[in-house]
Formats: sequence, structure tokens, C-alpha cells
Amino acid sequence: MNEEFKHYPVMLHEAVDALDCKPGLLYIDATLGGGGYSCEIAKRIQPDGKLFAFDVDRNAIEVASARLAEFGDSVTIFKANYSEIPKILEERGIEKITGGIVFDLGASYYQLTSGERGFSFSHESKLDMRFDMDGEKTAYDVVNFYHEADLVRIFQEYGEERYSRRIASRIVKKRQEKKIETTKELADLICSAVPRNPRNKIHPATRVFQAIRIEVNDELNNLENTLNGVISLLDKSARIAVVSFHSLEDKIVKRVFKYLSSDCNCGPYDLICSCPPRKLDIITKKPIIASEGEIKQNPPSRSAKLRVAGRV
Ligand SMILES: C[S@@+](CC[C@H](N)C(=O)[O-])C[C@H]1O[C@@H](n2cnc3c(N)ncnc32)[C@H](O)[C@@H]1O
Repeated sequence: MNEEFKHYPVMLHEAVDALDCKPGLLYIDATLGGGGYSCEIAKRIQPDGKLFAFDVDRNAIEVASARLAEFGDSVTIFKANYSEIPKILEERGIEKITGGIVFDLGASYYQLTSGERGFSFSHESKLDMRFDMDGEKTAYDVVNFYHEADLVRIFQEYGEERYSRRIASRIVKKRQEKKIETTKELADLICSAVPRNPRNKIHPATRVFQAIRIEVNDELNNLENTLNGVISLLDKSARIAVVSFHSLEDKIVKRVFKYLSSDCNCGPYDLICSCPPRKLDIITKKPIIASEGEIKQNPPSRSAKLRVAGRV
């Protein structure tokens, strides 16, 4: 598995520079993946800094643990959802994230291209798509048991898929004959439901596969429910950096940053302002995007956006 694990960390230097790493402080990598960001942070916080890194994928943890072994006990890895960060810090009696926290959202290259994980229509495998292989819900469950209306909503919202209704209706019809078991069966079904467009360079199943992955891993809710909590734990001047790939993720980050950096969020009918003091200074007024050189080397980086803020 190790040999296959090629993941180019997107905007590695931009994201880690944004944390302004210093020795002696506590940093968190909320999405460890292949350990690209974590290695860079670990190098920069020696001799006495600490890094806590989180991932739900035990394969990713195995690979990253080997890469990070040289940093000894300055790095601690947790197999946990990043939504559990506040609880895990509390259990350890840690009150503040003194350095900063970074999120690099979505799936890793390894997950997307690894045959047996069921993320990709280019590899025939069982419909799975779980980041956490111990998680309960799989792509098979979504495809075979969700109501048609929910499939339409997911394909529309998370995939921005024009032909959501047609695809959902085709899926529902098919699964009445026989359950849809594999990535290839699903991809063929999607192709048969949408009109052919030779000018369209992306595979017709791309958007639906992305939408199902977001649903299986509850990606947007995890982000929404976590940002506020971890920002409250940042110490004065500590930083938060978030790399997102999906416009809905970026919208969530932008909205939370804006809300927490405003002096007042009162509505038009509030007579007395009781807003708490603002928590954040936004450091990137506009999101940072990958350089042309990086996009050439690693085309998926073209949709990445990095937003950075610092605790007031
Ligand atoms: C894009 S990769 C991170 C790559 C990493 N920055 C690097 O340099 O190698 C995203 C990782 O986040 C993990 N992940 C996604 N959602 C998560 C969550 N809610 N909690 C913990 N890990 C999560 C995925 O399993 C995946 O390994």
C-alpha cells in the first residue's frame, strides 16, 4: 500500500506558512492524510513544539505514522473525526491551541485512486467511499436505500448535477430489479441516464460520485459543526487555515470567518447590541489559490482555496 500512496499536498507551503509555526506551541493538523502538512509543521516546531494530527482513515494513519516517526513524541496521531478535537483536548486537560490548526478538506489522492475503496469509477470495486472504514454508512447504502427525492437533493446540492432527477429515477428503477453493487454498475447507469456530450471533458459520473462521497462522510456537517468550536479554542494570535475544494465548503468557511470577525451581527430589529467581542481577524481577504506551476504538476489543485484567519 505504501508505494501506491502518492499524495501531493495541495498548497503545502502556503498552508503551513499561514500557520506561522513557532517552536514551543501546540499545532493541530485536522486532516492528516499522507502526512505532507504534518511533516512540514513538525520540522518547523522543533525543538519543543507539539503537533496533534487527526484522521479517520486507518490506512492514511499507518502511512503517515511511518513518515512522522522521526519526530518522536513531538507528534501525536489520533484516529478520530476532527469534530472530536474539542473533546479530545479537554480529556487531556488542554485548554488552548496555542499555535494553530489546519484543515485540508476532502479526500486524499490515495483514497480517490485506491481500487478497493470504491471512490472512483475508474476502478471496479464495491460501492464504499468511507473515509473511515469503521463507519456505518457506505455508498451502497445511499444508492440502494435513500428515497429518490433525497438522491435528487444530494446530486443537486453536493454535485451541482444538471441531470439529478433523471439519474435518481434511473437508479431507483434499476435497484427495484437488483441492488447496485459496484462503482462500474453505478457509473454505467449514470452514463445511460444523461445525454452524451462529446465536448464535455469530464466523465458524466464525476459529479454524482463526488456528491455521494460528501453524503457518506457527512463532510459539510462535520465542517460546519467543528469550525466554531475549534476557533473558540485558539489562543490569542493562533491561526486557522482551511484548504477547501468544493464551493459549498468554501462558503461555510467564508461565512464562519465573516461572522466571527464582525464587531456586531445584530439583526435590523435588535434594539440593544449584546454581541460577544469578535474572535477573528481575517488574514486572507480573498482566498489563496494554487500557482500555475502547481496546477500543471497536480491538476486537482486548480479547485483548491485557502482561507486564513487569526484569533484576536
Ligand atoms: C486531502 S487529505 C489531507 C492531505 C494532507 N494534508 C497531506 O498533506 O497529506 C484529507 C484527509 O482528511 C481525512 N478526513 C476527511 N474528513 C475527516 C474528518 N471529519 N475527520 C478526520 N479526518 C478526515 C481524509 O480521510 C483524508 O485522509
